[in-house]
Amino acid sequence: MRTFNWAILGLGNIAHKFAQDLALVPQARLHAVASRSPTKAQEFAATYGVPHAVGSYEALLAVPDLDVVYIATPHSEHHAHALLCLRAGLPVLCEKAFARSAGEAREMIEAAQERGVFLMEAFWTRFFPAIGQALELVRAGAIGEVKHLVADFGFASEYNPTGRLFNPALAGGSLLDIGVYPLFISQLFLGAPVAVRAVSTFTATGVDLNCAMALAYASGATASLVSTLAATTDNRCVLYGTAGQLHLTGRFHAPSGLRMQVFGQEAQVIPSPTTGYGYHYEAAHVQQCLAQGLLESPLLPLAFSLQLMELADEVRRQIGLRYPGE
Ligand SMILES: NC(=O)c1ccc[n+]([C@@H]2O[C@H](COP(=O)([O-])OP(=O)(O)OC[C@H]3O[C@@H](n4cnc5c(N)ncnc54)[C@H](OP(=O)(O)O)[C@@H]3O)[C@@H](O)[C@H]2O)c1
Repeated sequence: MRTFNWAILGLGNIAHKFAQDLALVPQARLHAVASRSPTKAQEFAATYGVPHAVGSYEALLAVPDLDVVYIATPHSEHHAHALLCLRAGLPVLCEKAFARSAGEAREMIEAAQERGVFLMEAFWTRFFPAIGQALELVRAGAIGEVKHLVADFGFASEYNPTGRLFNPALAGGSLLDIGVYPLFISQLFLGAPVAVRAVSTFTATGVDLNCAMALAYASGATASLVSTLAATTDNRCVLYGTAGQLHLTGRFHAPSGLRMQVFGQEAQVIPSPTTGYGYHYEAAHVQQCLAQGLLESPLLPLAFSLQLMELADEVRRQIGLRYPGE
């Protein structure tokens, strides 16, 4: 496979982790970084040995030989930044939440399709080996029919009204930042729900601090999901089946393995150790898609990301969470 020249747009926390993990991906090269601050871009480039550092996102479009752009800005900016790159013909890997709303996500998808360029949501969880193993086990009926799924994602975060987690202008709140993980994992294993009920508590800035969701499926299964920025939770996901239980071990969004308990048998532990943070799995997958000339991922299709945003929209409608301009 040829070498792929990556760019990172937006140089915050996750950009650093992604840059470190990209070094673990064969045939990947961090070719350019773009920040709103030229100094920040130069410092980042010096740290990771990146040949091109540009001081605006627009300037990235003029960098030669780019293969794919990783968008690492706040959710509120994903739509604009993805459109900027896609309309210039650049393939995009865009951080979760994919956008603020399904409407924005739809426009991003249309832009990719009109221009014939690759687009994928950076839902890194999907590409962990343990997730693939869990899907295989569940599809093979190893725990029978799944009847219930529980998933939580919470961490106690310092209240900063202007930071991206609490600021409505940056599409803050627990739902779009971490609630999308429980929604993602339920959609992956159970598909689209037929009913959703959501409740939340709010911060003084008017975004959701806690968000609790109950879902029901045509199969007869249900799911209990929660996200919170107020307390650190176990970040646990368990699937309860008619013949057994399957636990995604460690923090479920970056699982370290599986534990399966088939009723009447000894529990089976399936370790799945990870190198790096785990962002290299999604990056390697993007390269495989690009090498095959695909315009979307077969493992994380755009319809899946759109459906996830539609679900988040419905939760937001029920809890009354609106962002400025909506
Ligand atoms: N997959 C994961 O595990 C994971 C983990 C954490 C975060 N994320 C996602 O990654 C995205 C970024 O999160 P982060 O924690 O890296 O955020 P962050 O530290 O605040 O960095 C975001 C960067 O976006 C750029 N930016 C562009 N417009 C901005 C604006 N109006 N306000 C603030 N920053 C702006 C800035 O880069 P410049 O100053 O360089 O332009 C900033 O450093 C979010 O969508 C988040 O959900 C994913």
